[in-house]
Amino acid sequence: MKHLVAPSVLSADFGNLQSDLKMINESGADWLHVDVMDGNFVPNISFGPDIIKVIKHHCSKPLDVHLMIEGPERYIETFRQAGADNISVHFEACPHLHRTIQQIKATGAKAGVALNPHTPVTLLEDIIEDLDIVILMSVNPGFGGQKFIYQTLHKIKSLKDMIITRNTNTLIEVDGGVGLQNAEAILQAGADILVAGNSVFKTENPTLAIYSLKNLGIKGLFV
Ligand code: DX5
Ligand code: ZN
Repeated sequence: MKHLVAPSVLSADFGNLQSDLKMINESGADWLHVDVMDGNFVPNISFGPDIIKVIKHHCSKPLDVHLMIEGPERYIETFRQAGADNISVHFEACPHLHRTIQQIKATGAKAGVALNPHTPVTLLEDIIEDLDIVILMSVNPGFGGQKFIYQTLHKIKSLKDMIITRNTNTLIEVDGGVGLQNAEAILQAGADILVAGNSVFKTENPTLAIYSLKNLGIKGLFV
């Protein structure tokens, strides 16, 4: 499978959200990554379901919703109804993770689990079969524009080994500090999805940035 690129709307210009979403619709982006932060699980607060409804209205790409919130099981239905196509919850925020994953699947959304940088992938051994997506955080969650933590490359490899051994269809998504400088290494380690916030929206030509992340081998022809 060719890898997917999911620009993160957290880095978009909220004053011109509609035009940023038009750019996404016309770009080679596969999904739009949508970060929900509660000021509790993570130190930052982003936005909630009402903004996601607006995003859904203007965005033709699937919404990949990353819940960085405590007690996400309280809001699964709400985010699904707001327009989430994929819903990922944090391992560290879910004491009853198996139940929460089943709850996500019951809504018809794809179900994912996100791991903080310090959380080992081995903790997923008894749930991997149930997961459509694993998000490996390559920064401490809460903010865009942080530096990629290189230990993540080892985690991608271990998770890929687990997925191959267990013969599941789980996709590996890497989130935080991803850009042209490290995308090839991340994909070589076994990732399937690149989330990119600042490396798309904070560049002069976001459409080209998406194109380049999607077509790594031939970017030199176009830049
Ligand atoms: C961080 C968020 C990321 C963030 C990525 O907590 O989960 O999705 O938007 O932004 P960049 O790509 O700028 O690190
Ligand atoms: Zn995210």
